[in-house]
Amino acid sequence: MNALEFKKTMDIIQKQDEWRNNCINLIASENVQSRKVRAIAGCDFTHRYAEGHPGERYYKGTNYIDEIESRLKSVLKDLFACAHTEVRPISGTNANEAIFSKFVKKEDIVMANSTPGGGHISHHRMGSLGKFTKNIIDFPISKDGYHMDIEKTKDLIRSIKPKLIVLGKSLFLFPEPIKELFDICEEYQIKIIYDAAHVLGLIAGKQFQDPLGDGALLVTGSTHKTYFGSQRGLILSNMENDEWRKVDRGAFPGSSSNHHLGTLAQMALSTCEFVEYGEQYAKDIVTNAKALAVALENQGFSVEAKEFGYTESHQVAVNVKNMGGGSLVSTLLENNDIILNMNMLPHEPLKNHMNPEGLRIGVAEMTRFGMKEPEMEKIAELMKECIVDKKNVKDEVNSFRANYQEVQYSFDNRD
Ligand SMILES: Cc1ncc(COP(=O)(O)O)c(C=O)c1O
Repeated sequence: MNALEFKKTMDIIQKQDEWRNNCINLIASENVQSRKVRAIAGCDFTHRYAEGHPGERYYKGTNYIDEIESRLKSVLKDLFACAHTEVRPISGTNANEAIFSKFVKKEDIVMANSTPGGGHISHHRMGSLGKFTKNIIDFPISKDGYHMDIEKTKDLIRSIKPKLIVLGKSLFLFPEPIKELFDICEEYQIKIIYDAAHVLGLIAGKQFQDPLGDGALLVTGSTHKTYFGSQRGLILSNMENDEWRKVDRGAFPGSSSNHHLGTLAQMALSTCEFVEYGEQYAKDIVTNAKALAVALENQGFSVEAKEFGYTESHQVAVNVKNMGGGSLVSTLLENNDIILNMNMLPHEPLKNHMNPEGLRIGVAEMTRFGMKEPEMEKIAELMKECIVDKKNVKDEVNSFRANYQEVQYSFDNRD
């Protein structure tokens, strides 16, 4: 029985590998690792424990782990031009929790982006931040829905005096107004936290705003969305050493103990690839996202934020209300091996969350497989044939995707 279950489980794992390798993957929070980085998933690090910091571990046998962790931290400091890096959180949420647990006290007021406004659940009452305070106030947003209303936000700050503000989103098309809010945050001693989960790779590739340079105190992020590392989290800062000690405690023992050393090794390797190729990769992502937005509009889709050039990130937002809604459209696409997610758009009420009007599309993974602007046009065409013409395009999707199997911006084909 166990042997049979083992075989079935193995079959499922292999099916997933085969299936998603044949799909056009457009989930904005996903990416792929290179062949060489994937290959070390079974290395000895995967089995080990290493709490604490390199050189000050609670466990023995960590010499090589220490070396990898120290080198990674030093490379990341250069890449993000910052004084402190915390690499132990095992996800973006875990990184946020390390911060919230140390800087937010019961009854503190925190401002964040609402869910329809693009905010992430970890910034909300039901998520990580909600464990530390329930006083979470949404940023006012402008009419277009994709920008903060700065004047209203400033008025609100003056009246409610939040302890900290959390910038950064899950539906993240345009940079956040850090510079615009910096002076008022200084005046009221408000900490600016910037959640870069989605855009970390664009920041590292210098194609998006530089949150620390613009004035954020702390940057958190996932390392597997636009940043093509392993599934982990990261915290960056230039804050004073005393304050940073709190972050350190927040990460360990606060929000993690052992920190998944197999993925640490993968993160270290993929960071070398990022340093080498990240700038061109991030440029290509933004070009592709803009090209996909234009191509979708040309195919009859209603693409959001047209008056602002659609996007400056890896994402494109589309309103598919008139095509049956986000749930139906994303399911039809999935049936044809085009994988993306439905998403609430900024003007929608929360009750729409199971059938929102929108789609969120991300181009990071397909960019990594070497797709460029002509391929973005092809994807838009396939989506139109599937959704508007009601054609079955699965075979065409699979044969198109067969041409893009090698992960680019990697050391796969180097010694
Ligand atoms: C803005 C934002 N923050 C945090 C997270 C959580 O990241 P993770 O999935 O690595 O916990 C996400 C996930 O998509 C996100 O969009």
